[in-house]
Amino acid sequence: MTQDELKQTVAQAALDYIAPKLTPTSILGIGTGSTANFFIDGLAAYKQHFAATVASSEASAQRLASLGIKVLDLNEVEGLSLYVDGADECNAALEMIKGGGAALTREKIVAATADEFICIADESKMVTTLGHFPLPVEVIPMARAYVTRELEKLGATVVYRQGVITDNNAVILDVHGLSITEAKALEAQINQIAGVITNGLFAARPANILLLGTPAGVKTLYAKNT
Ligand code: 5RP
Repeated sequence: MTQDELKQTVAQAALDYIAPKLTPTSILGIGTGSTANFFIDGLAAYKQHFAATVASSEASAQRLASLGIKVLDLNEVEGLSLYVDGADECNAALEMIKGGGAALTREKIVAATADEFICIADESKMVTTLGHFPLPVEVIPMARAYVTRELEKLGATVVYRQGVITDNNAVILDVHGLSITEAKALEAQINQIAGVITNGLFAARPANILLLGTPAGVKTLYAKNT
């Protein structure tokens, strides 16, 4: 199976998982990226079964709207029953690195408001130790050089993602060479640097369930302590 076929399979597994939970008042959080796009496309068939969505990026909002799915501003809702999104890396504790698509801040905000975070990923995203995928950090543009110097103190190599402006009019620094054993602590530490909006570690709010696409089928994993 190709990686896209695995992504499509987990997107369908997520639809099967959420379908019995949908009610006419459900408001769903929707992620960003190619796996989330497969989920959005499949969600169109269920649009009579829930009230609306909240998107974690302008791109996802546009895709949802183009399929006739209602999109609300997060400020209009009190909370979300569930959030479905992909990941760049995920470990056994269902801590993740996200932000490969530069949507990490809105993804983290939408995830924070959701009762349940359902991560959908192909098996290439599952790792023992987070950090092989460069950790994205969203930064206020004027702080870029300062934040780079501070991140380099972690012993990492920092690469400015040229030409990318986020939905929040900020920039992305990709931090290479980390081996992340204390994800929650590192997430908090990096977020303390002045000028950082947020970083792509999702450890304070990990996923609740991971639907992992493998050639042998979709595996369902629940968070366990590492
Ligand atoms: C976007 C993200 C995505 O969830 C992550 O990059 C995974 O993307 P894909 O499903 O395309 O592999 O965090 O900011």
